[in-house]
Amino acid sequence: MKILNVVGARPNFMKIAPIIDEMKKRSKLTPILVHTGQHYDKEMSKLFFDDLKLPPPDIYLGVGSASHAVQTAKIMVKFEKVLLKEKPDLVVVVGDVNSTIACTLTAVKFFIPVAHIEAGLRSFDRTMPEEINRILTDSISDYLFTTCHDANKNLLKEGISKDKIHFVGNVMIDTLLKHIKKASHSGILKKLNLQPKDYAALTLHRPSNVDDKKVFVRILDAFGEIQKKIKIVFPIHPRTKKRIEEFGLNNKIRKMKNFKIVDALGYLDFLKLMSESKFVLTDSGGIQEETTILKIPCITLRETTERPITVTEGTNIIVGSNKEKIIKESLKIIKGKEKKGKIPKFWDGKAAERIANILLSKDLR
Ligand code: UD1
Repeated sequence: MKILNVVGARPNFMKIAPIIDEMKKRSKLTPILVHTGQHYDKEMSKLFFDDLKLPPPDIYLGVGSASHAVQTAKIMVKFEKVLLKEKPDLVVVVGDVNSTIACTLTAVKFFIPVAHIEAGLRSFDRTMPEEINRILTDSISDYLFTTCHDANKNLLKEGISKDKIHFVGNVMIDTLLKHIKKASHSGILKKLNLQPKDYAALTLHRPSNVDDKKVFVRILDAFGEIQKKIKIVFPIHPRTKKRIEEFGLNNKIRKMKNFKIVDALGYLDFLKLMSESKFVLTDSGGIQEETTILKIPCITLRETTERPITVTEGTNIIVGSNKEKIIKESLKIIKGKEKKGKIPKFWDGKAAERIANILLSKDLR
C-alpha cells in the first residue's frame, strides 16, 4: 500500500514522525514523505527533521509563504502533479494548516482516500483559519483519527458516519514521550543562562494576537507586569518578529529587562525549555497538549480552544488577550497555586501504532 504522508508547517513534523516509523515496521505499507514547504526556514523546518530523525522528504513542493488563497492554491497545483505521478493508495494529512486542506481537497477529487490525523477538534470560532481547515478536511476525509472523545462527538454532530471515526489517541504525545529523555540532555538552559522553575516560557504567533497592534500591545503590557516577578523567555515565530518591526515595538520590549526574545528553537531544545519552566504562556494548539503531559501549568492566550480536554483534564487555563486575566493567572502560579491535571486516555505513546494497524486492516487497493 503506497501512502503519501503530507507535512507543511512546523506543528506537522512531530505528528507525522511516529506514523512514518510505524508504517516502516509493516512490510505491506510503503510510506512516502511529501513536504509542501509552507514552512521553509531552518528554525521552522530543518531543525525538526534533524531532531526527530525524520527522513528527508521524498518530495518537496517548495511553496513558501503567501496569502491564504495563493498558498493553498499553489500547494494544490503542485500536489496534483505528485498524485498523477505517484498514484498512491492513500494520502495521510495531519493537523489543521493550509497544507492539510490543500492536499486533502486535491486527493479526494482523484478518488484517493484520505486519512486525517487529529480529526474532530473544534474551537467553534470560524475567524480562525485553522477552524475552516479542520471542518473542511474532516468533511471530505475517509479515515478520521481522533485524539479524544470530544472530537468523536463533534464529528458525529456534523453528520459524519461513525464507521469513519477511530479514537486512537495523540500522535504528538507519542513523539514527546519518545524524545523526553533525549531532550533532558539539551544544553538550552545553560545557553540561555536559566535555572529550572525560574522562568516562564512563551510562544505567541496567532494572527488574532499579533496582527492587530492594539491587541498585541495589550498582551505585551501584561508581559511587562509579569516579567517584574519572573523571567519570561520567548522563542519568537517569524510572523511575530515581523509585526514587532512593523509596529515599532522594539523600544517598548527593550525596556522589559526580564523579557528575553530568542530565535525559534528546535524540537528538543523547546521540549527542555517547556519541561523545566515554572509555567507556559502560549497561543499554540499543540503546546496546550504538551504541557498537559508534562504537568506544567499552561496559560492560553486565546478566547477558545479546540482542545478542551486540556482544560477539563489537563493543566490548561484559557485567558484570551485580557491583560488583567493574563497577569492574575500568572501571579497565582508564581505564588504556587497552580492547576494540577491528569493524563487523557490514550495519550500513551501508542497512537501511531494504532493508526498503522487500522490502516493495515483496511483493504485500500
Ligand atoms: C501556520 C499555521 C498555524 C500554525 C503555525 C505554526 C495555517 C493557516 N497556519 O501559521 O496553524 O500554528 O503555522 O507555526 O496554515 N514565515 C517565515 N519562515 C517560515 C514560515 C513562515 O518567515 O519558515 C513567515 C512568513 O513571512 C509568513 C508568516 O511567517 O508570511 C506566516 O507563515 P504562514 O505559514 O502563512 O502561517 P503561520 O503564521 O506560520
